[in-house]
Amino acid sequence: MTGSIALILAVLLPLVSGQVPHWGPCPEPTTQPAFNLKQFVGRWFEIAKLPAQFEKGRCIETNFTLKLDNSLRIISSEILRGELRRIEGVGVTEDLKNPAKLGITFSYVLPYTPYWILSTDYVNTAVVYSCTDILRLFHVEFAWVLSRSRSLPAAALEKAADIFAKNSIDVSRMTNTRQQGCEKA
Ligand SMILES: *[C@@H]1O[C@H](CO)[C@@H](O)[C@H](O)[C@H]1NC(C)=O
Repeated sequence: MTGSIALILAVLLPLVSGQVPHWGPCPEPTTQPAFNLKQFVGRWFEIAKLPAQFEKGRCIETNFTLKLDNSLRIISSEILRGELRRIEGVGVTEDLKNPAKLGITFSYVLPYTPYWILSTDYVNTAVVYSCTDILRLFHVEFAWVLSRSRSLPAAALEKAADIFAKNSIDVSRMTNTRQQGCEKA
């Protein structure tokens, strides 16, 4: 048993290196009640996140637009080593009973990754969480604090930290995303 777990880890670790693996299945956090996708669309700046391999730059922002079929067009951009990089993705409401549970993907060949809106007031802050079970042995998670502007008051960051804590999501490794010097790049 121990041997097979070690083997599984050896195979999967390259996938999750740089992320935050935790033993056991995903937690089941509470999400934004009566989530309203139309109010959520628009431009969000990343203020803080759990380290993610695919986001290493600064000035990270995402623009969500509602398409006619109620899916989302997602354009994310960042500045990495002085260059502006953009990726385009798609978002969908994955759970019609809980519209705060979105799924997003940035590639046609990849499945949707959970993108759960734990809390948002739509006009200032959004607290977002993503968790994927791997064989129910462990899970890989991401978390973001988003803001409608490039900075957030400390009180809003503390409130976001409280929301993660209440849901037993460990964000002690969360890092701030640099949002300075973004205009002149
Ligand atoms: C967001 O995307 C929409 C549709 O592509 C575009 O019209 C709008 O200008 C974009 N907003 C920002 C801030 O990039």
